[in-house]
Amino acid sequence: MSRLIVVSNRVGPLKDSGKAGGLAVALVDTLRQTGGIWFGWTGKVSEEGTFGLLHEEKHRKVVMQQIDITQQDYDEFYIGYANRTLWPVLHYRLDLAEFDRRYEEGYRRVNERFAARLHPSIQPDDTIWVHDYHFFGLAAQLRAMEVENPIAFFLHIPFPAPEILAALPNAESLVRRMLAYDLIGFQTERDAANFRRFVVEELQGEDLGNDRVSAVGREVIARAYPIGIDAESFAQFVHSADARRHMARVEKLLDGRQQIIGVDRIDYSKGLPERFKAFERLLEDYPENRGQVSLMQVAPPSRSEVDSYVDIRNELEHLTGHINGRFADLDWTPIRFLTRSFNRKALAGVYRESKVGLVTPLRDGMNLVAKEYVAAQRPEDPGVLVLSRFAGAAERMKEALIVNPHSAEEVAAALQTALTMPWEERRERWLAMYERICEEGAHEWAQAILSDLRTEFAAYSA
Ligand code: UDP
Ligand code: G6P
Repeated sequence: MSRLIVVSNRVGPLKDSGKAGGLAVALVDTLRQTGGIWFGWTGKVSEEGTFGLLHEEKHRKVVMQQIDITQQDYDEFYIGYANRTLWPVLHYRLDLAEFDRRYEEGYRRVNERFAARLHPSIQPDDTIWVHDYHFFGLAAQLRAMEVENPIAFFLHIPFPAPEILAALPNAESLVRRMLAYDLIGFQTERDAANFRRFVVEELQGEDLGNDRVSAVGREVIARAYPIGIDAESFAQFVHSADARRHMARVEKLLDGRQQIIGVDRIDYSKGLPERFKAFERLLEDYPENRGQVSLMQVAPPSRSEVDSYVDIRNELEHLTGHINGRFADLDWTPIRFLTRSFNRKALAGVYRESKVGLVTPLRDGMNLVAKEYVAAQRPEDPGVLVLSRFAGAAERMKEALIVNPHSAEEVAAALQTALTMPWEERRERWLAMYERICEEGAHEWAQAILSDLRTEFAAYSA
């Protein structure tokens, strides 16, 4: 089997630090099995930037290679184009998107520099797999350096309808450059179809059927590969010392009351203000829950240089104060808002002690928390997942209580249903989802992409 080279902006950590987003979590599981190189950013800024030292670290079968970026790259590529421009546009938030020529130039420059630094490590029979919206242009840069290896791309976040993406200046050129990949993977059927439609409508391409499109002399596979977790391992986390300690603390805190759990980076795509208002609505519409049910929101801060992230955090602090002030009692606090992270073992314990998992993004590529919540439940007494229809996870988790996160009324009603659901129904819904997430795990996800890429490539080069 050929060596695998994975490229993503964040590399690792291979050990669970609790700071990883969904992307890193999924890749750690995969690379540990296949071995190879994981190439990306150190997370540090230095004067030499991408021209500086290549940091290399070997962890058993995986070599991690990382480079710095400069302050200018950080401002224009990471904070600028990736997180002020692409993230909002791809999450359907044109109102929050900032368009600036310098950001776009910074993005191209960093994609080119990453390609140049990766180039010497590439051997002729390596398979290359690039991840996420930071590196849409990487394959085009590698092809310009005459790299002919098979290159796959996976987008961890949504790909919006062409009507939305068309608002991005030079969107055509961005998508045209994506066609330098051989295979492009998306989280859902909808995302993949949006991409193919963009190619047909905006690049005058052709839909060839069987998830293939062609344009500008290239033919690519654009297909859905919903990302999974290693559900059995996650389920085992609940027996770890960390999980047990956290379970005991939550149990003591609740003292027989019930808890709803939310776990999200502080990000406007996660629908957190809407969630807090829906919880307030639960206390208004179903007063029997007052003093009995609380919401614990674990919310590690993220990308705090971007104004919209600061705004959303301020709004959440305000809302927490308002709702707690309105409903709290001597011995009961309605919302616990924890702006810190926990490692995944500790989270497993917290999920298990929570009667309801509340996952209500306004848009989300997949949302791994939804799957982790299910994996961590007690088979003999499982909790209920309330899930936004706009999370990629909803496409394959139909047994959750699916809600429109914009409707406080609807989410409150679903919470009430979840809190009062009879055992048989809870168990039936949980079992169907648990079995599916076990079948559609992280390993199967990576294998499906890599095997399609290799088959495709073999057919071409034959
Ligand atoms: N996570 C964590 N510690 C925390 C909060 C989150 O380890 O305090 C992990 C969580 O378990 C999940 C990932 O971060 O695996 C978040 O992935 P998701 O797809 O839900 O959202 P993203 O952050 O990628 O938008
Ligand atoms: C999501 C994205 C990842 C990103 C992570 C954390 O999971 O899909 O690409 O790494 O969020 O965000 P950050 O900006 O801190 O890397």
